[in-house]
Amino acid sequence: MDTASALSTTYLSVQDMVQLVQRKGLPACIAGIARRIEADFLRWPEFDKTARVAAHSAHGVIELMPIADATQFAFKYVNGHPLNTRSGLPTVMAFGLLADVATGAPRLLSELTITTAIRTAAMSALAARVLARPGSRVMALIGNGAQSEFQALAFRDLVGIATLRLFDTDPLATAKLVANLAGQGLQLQVCASTAEAVRGADVVTTVTADKTQATILTPDMLAPGMHLNAVGGDCPGKTEMHRGVLEQAAVFVEFEPQSRIEGEIQQMPADFPVTEFWQVLAGRQPGRRSPQQVTVFDSVGFALEDYSALCFLQEAAAELGIGSTVDLVPQQADPKNLFGLATGAVPAASGARGLEGQHGGGQVFQGSAHRLEDGAAPAGARQAIALAA
Ligand SMILES: NC(=O)c1ccc[n+]([C@@H]2O[C@H](COP(=O)([O-])OP(=O)(O)OC[C@H]3O[C@@H](n4cnc5c(N)ncnc54)[C@H](O)[C@@H]3O)[C@@H](O)[C@H]2O)c1
Repeated sequence: MDTASALSTTYLSVQDMVQLVQRKGLPACIAGIARRIEADFLRWPEFDKTARVAAHSAHGVIELMPIADATQFAFKYVNGHPLNTRSGLPTVMAFGLLADVATGAPRLLSELTITTAIRTAAMSALAARVLARPGSRVMALIGNGAQSEFQALAFRDLVGIATLRLFDTDPLATAKLVANLAGQGLQLQVCASTAEAVRGADVVTTVTADKTQATILTPDMLAPGMHLNAVGGDCPGKTEMHRGVLEQAAVFVEFEPQSRIEGEIQQMPADFPVTEFWQVLAGRQPGRRSPQQVTVFDSVGFALEDYSALCFLQEAAAELGIGSTVDLVPQQADPKNLFGLATGAVPAASGARGLEGQHGGGQVFQGSAHRLEDGAAPAGARQAIALAA
């Protein structure tokens, strides 16, 4: 690979992601990312794993989620601010990066807000496909915000859920979900409370946002054989289950050291038994032990799911010709002469993927990005070239 190719970084903006989802189809994206997650979880020991690094504040959390195998490194930046929606901002926002381990060069910089919703739903449904009772058809969906429709479609496609029983403390959120999922082959039943929604459900997904130790589900709501997909409790001091629910269930987690800090099991003693889900996938540990057992997937979101999603996006973007290249790191004829590049004394390396052909000077990377599809500089970049000339 030449230097320019080795250092070129593809950029996927939110609009690129919207295009990618529309051209591939959301069900295909969910299924594709679920397949990637499954394959990557099956090679779990190959990854260098750490619990994510979190910066907590009064109203939220900002987290960095790194992971690597022998060839690729990934990280995600993600926040969780449950009060944000009151001022018109999303609760969850994310972006992330994929880099070559061999050189350290960043290869993909991507939006991950939409992607997080898809990968979380794919992960939840993958876990339920393994842990829920076969033949599960009815799911209670508690919390009908940004993540909820993605969860609904993933469970329809990967688990066979046909009926959703819906509840949110904000009726407008439920009305939005009902409008969004009309005609998607799901029977939608709006309920007046969590207790009502949970009644008769085979699966219960909780995907609420509140920075508190909530008790959305209490032991009296459980029925034998239920599978609980607990998504919204993902941070210290932010849970959704009464501890009595956990005491009655078999609990499965992503990466135990992180889940002990962030998951529903933060409420439990350090030796409370849990099983890492990859062990069930790999056939090393049993999943559900009987049709009567209550199972819990205590989801917090693990870096490997984002690694899998970024790999899926990289391949899909290349296949569809979606995205731009962005000049994130310098490309130099002499990599030791960074000073020359910074001061304009030497031009960037020939063959660098940027705007050099139209510019001709040393400050090749004035432009922000150019489209992969048409190769033309965007308006902002043309303006930068004009200013620099
Ligand atoms: N586990 C993971 O991998 C993962 C990934 C992404 C997001 N999350 C978490 O999922 C949650 C939902 O995210 P989102 O982007 O959909 O947030 P959102 O703010 O868009 O939606 C949350 C919804 O929950 C509702 N809600 C709050 N308290 C409730 C209650 N007591 N009963 C019923 N409904 C209630 C709100 O009205 C809102 O409509 C957040 O807590 C987020 O941190 C987890």
